[in-house]
Amino acid sequence: MLQITGVSRRFGDVTALADVSLEIRQGEFFALLGPSGCGKTTLLRILAGFESPDSGTVTLDGDDLLGRAAHRRPVNLMFQSYALFPHMTVAKNVAYGLEREKLSKAEIRSRVGEVLEKVGLSAMAGRRPQQLSGGQRQRVALARAIVKRPRLLLLDEPLSALDKKVRAEMQLELKRLQHEVGITFVVVTHDQEEAMSLADRIAVFNAGRVEQVDEPVRLYERPRTPFVAGFVGAGNLFPGRACAAGVAADGLGVLPGVSDLPDGTPALLAVRPERIRLDDGGGVLKGEVADVSFYGGVSHVAVTVPGRPEPVLVATQGATRVRPGAQVGLAWTPGDGVLVPQ
Ligand SMILES: Nc1ncnc2c1ncn2[C@@H]1O[C@H](COP(=O)(O)OP(=O)(O)OP(=O)(O)O)[C@@H](O)[C@H]1O
Ligand SMILES: [Mg+2]
Repeated sequence: MLQITGVSRRFGDVTALADVSLEIRQGEFFALLGPSGCGKTTLLRILAGFESPDSGTVTLDGDDLLGRAAHRRPVNLMFQSYALFPHMTVAKNVAYGLEREKLSKAEIRSRVGEVLEKVGLSAMAGRRPQQLSGGQRQRVALARAIVKRPRLLLLDEPLSALDKKVRAEMQLELKRLQHEVGITFVVVTHDQEEAMSLADRIAVFNAGRVEQVDEPVRLYERPRTPFVAGFVGAGNLFPGRACAAGVAADGLGVLPGVSDLPDGTPALLAVRPERIRLDDGGGVLKGEVADVSFYGGVSHVAVTVPGRPEPVLVATQGATRVRPGAQVGLAWTPGDGVLVPQ
């Protein structure tokens, strides 16, 4: 549905976007994930028509999008700070865009009512934004964005202003809403868990470039670049060279992993903390427990391994009995070690 091809944008010395190409499908919940300053907002602004690329093309349903003025695009952008009109009621805020389109009063009333119902704010239609909680304001901004029924809804960090609990609720809401209205969503976030839980597919950005586009599970289990392996989930990364059994790690010997790289290729072995078992009798690495943190559902155990500057992180289900100072072995199956070319 949306085809972005070779889009680049520079601001002076800064390359905000470098040759970005993406295909986004009809009805998809697509996430742009990356650290601050990697070009996410710039790409949304280009799609919405508030910014032009230096080069590249964008088509929507096969038609050129970049040649159309912002207000003529079937695209809506919900800003990073969702500026509501403070002097207008919730219903007025939502109706604003439709009034500017000169729709009839009856049509506007029915569409606003329908959308407020969808986001669960029917009872608050007459309130002003300052009489709402953060999560409720968020819903108003969403209602305002979907009431115009865009083909494409762009959301820039839609949940970043919310606290953890409301945020988790709104993530579910957002998913349900997207399903219900059937609009294609492109959401920007720098929170990898949020991207994972929301999106059908994720594009990981690094310094203006797309590093990998994949489904969440695939991205997590099969990162293709060192950046993705480091950014998506706190992985343990072991540098070395690819070999038949996995990777010959610098200073640590052969560590198990599945490799399709030619022997001797410089590579990182990525092993997720939850894939490592603490093994009293054996294991491929031996070390000493440096720290144990209990998080409720999981515990994190940091293990210092001779020959490696940073500790190896292990996540266990629930509470663990190991204590700092204990000698432990670390084990994982070859299928849980992912080789990433360096
Ligand atoms: N109008 C502008 N003038 C100059 N530099 C800009 C402009 N807009 C963006 N940039 C620069 O381009 C880069 C990408 O910015 P962008 O806002 O797209 O990042 P982002 O990924 O959205 O970051 P964040 O997660 O912090 O919102 C940054 O280095 C930024 O400083
Ligand atoms: Mg941004």
